[in-house]
Amino acid sequence: MNIAHCRSCGACGLEGGTGVCVIRDDMQDVYPAFSEPHVVVLAAPMFWGYMTSQLKTLFDRLEAIASPKHFGGRDFILLVTYRHYYGSMVEWLGRITSAFGSRLHAMTCQTYDQDADRDVPIANFPGRLHEAFELGRRVGAASGGV
Ligand SMILES: Cc1cc2nc3c(=O)[nH]c(=O)nc-3n(C[C@H](O)[C@H](O)[C@H](O)COP(=O)(O)O)c2cc1C
Repeated sequence: MNIAHCRSCGACGLEGGTGVCVIRDDMQDVYPAFSEPHVVVLAAPMFWGYMTSQLKTLFDRLEAIASPKHFGGRDFILLVTYRHYYGSMVEWLGRITSAFGSRLHAMTCQTYDQDADRDVPIANFPGRLHEAFELGRRVGAASGGV
């Protein structure tokens, strides 16, 4: 996707602003997802102790609609793969979801074998993939899906 950085221009400013981002790019396909009561699924690797820059850019642009109206009462599923550390990412989304009155369901998977000093493909964790599938099914059903 082509998503530009937030310019902090303030045009969207929730109080007295338009609530609409002036940058016209692929974010225009993302905003509508936050108008419907969908479950939001984020799947990302851990990069340098934090989320990827792409995901951070996307969240910066969500500033235009950052309110309980768009984020409240919603389920967020966060799937993180990592080698050594995942803390800040789960902590970050936990803080946001609790502030906006939504729910976080986080799953983490270490895709690095420390003893053998090698990365392990996610396909080698069928149990964790099944767990993720069941989490999606459970949260989807609870939020009115199939
Ligand atoms: C730029 C970069 C930074 C990374 N930083 C971390 C990190 O801080 N902590 C960590 O546990 N893994 C780190 N990793 C490893 C990734 O989390 C690892 O690639 C991921 O678990 C594998 O997911 P993937 O197969 O979807 O790429 C980093 C990888 C890259 C490429």
